[in-house]
Amino acid sequence: MTDKKLMDEKETKEVYGIKMWPQEKIERFRATLLSWYDIEKRTLPWRLNNDPYRIWVSEIMLQQTRVDTVIPYYLNFMKQFPTIKALSEAEEDRLLKAWEGLGYYSRVRNMQKAAIQIMEDYEGEMPRDPKEIIKLSGIGPYTAGAIASMAFGLPEPAVDGNVMRVLSRLFEIDADIAKPASRKLFEAVMREIIDPYKPGDFNQAFMDLGSSICTPKNYHPEMSPIKEFNASYLNGTWQKYPVKSRKKKAVPVYYTGVIIKNEKDEFLLEKRPANGLLANMWLFPLLEENLILDGTDLVQGQIQKIESEELQDQVLQQLLIQLDETYGAKPILMKKPFAEVVHIFSHLKWFITVYYGQISSEDRPLPENCHWVSPEQFEKYTFPGPQTKMWQSYLSHFKKI
Ligand code: ADE
Repeated sequence: MTDKKLMDEKETKEVYGIKMWPQEKIERFRATLLSWYDIEKRTLPWRLNNDPYRIWVSEIMLQQTRVDTVIPYYLNFMKQFPTIKALSEAEEDRLLKAWEGLGYYSRVRNMQKAAIQIMEDYEGEMPRDPKEIIKLSGIGPYTAGAIASMAFGLPEPAVDGNVMRVLSRLFEIDADIAKPASRKLFEAVMREIIDPYKPGDFNQAFMDLGSSICTPKNYHPEMSPIKEFNASYLNGTWQKYPVKSRKKKAVPVYYTGVIIKNEKDEFLLEKRPANGLLANMWLFPLLEENLILDGTDLVQGQIQKIESEELQDQVLQQLLIQLDETYGAKPILMKKPFAEVVHIFSHLKWFITVYYGQISSEDRPLPENCHWVSPEQFEKYTFPGPQTKMWQSYLSHFKKI
């Protein structure tokens, strides 16, 4: 065996069964990827400096949301809450309002909890050690790795779905990227190849590659700056990667929504409980459809399609009883719903059949969690996605826009 061969064998090792590149190849790869990134990197507001707070906020916003959508939210958020201290002291209503439209509101609630933890336990400064960063509320291995590498220059992987897709094509990795357990394998591969001098750029180069060239669809591996390293391209197997099992389908949940206007042109809004989905946000009254269908022959999801007047009346009567019991409201309702709103959360799919009604006298006080609100005042209330959709469908149906 030649000296060269001996050295190669010593230097290549397996990581979770994946044959790792020799050191020389790793170094060539780093240089190739980083020079591509230097030229092609996107100018993004959170890339202006290494402030860990700025990086943290951007990474949380980017978790379930596209870069283009995030940018205006990010700029507004940083203006309103420029420091960890400001975030820790912010009123919840203002925070939710700044997040309105981004969805997954637990992200911003957790961020505030973490800001309070940082003020109390770390003298207001983001800790540098990834083992400490990950103790903060809402921060998992991905975000901890992103902050540690981008803000503090530590060679920590930041592995999300995009990075797994790039790596699985690069090394022909058969692990299912939809399974949380696979992340460890990808992190181990990343630890081998990450550039020790520019780990933040290295991680972000993977992110940019994953969103520009190494995309889930319309992928052209021959266009990639790292094609000469890409095993699946060189072996013609790239169409197999990444291996990704299907997500479970969101569970359907049916509601009847009611938009009720009073004589002063105000609308009835209800604040959701402090815990659970869409906590503390405001919506038009929503009633579980099962309550409305009680005593009728209908099953969930059918209200939209009712043709018979008799059934329509039955549903209407039930709806009026429920509105009276829950809100003390006795509106005059349109006979038929005017819209169906569909909203998908990660695990649930809401179907809301929307009715419209008007109320003339308000003889009973509203429950504590309900307000009459004029549209000019809506901006003071945080509306989650389904509420915005109900309001939009009201405006377009009644030709207000
Ligand atoms: N997606 C998640 N984090 C990102 C970042 N820092 N830059 C670009 N896209 C990202």
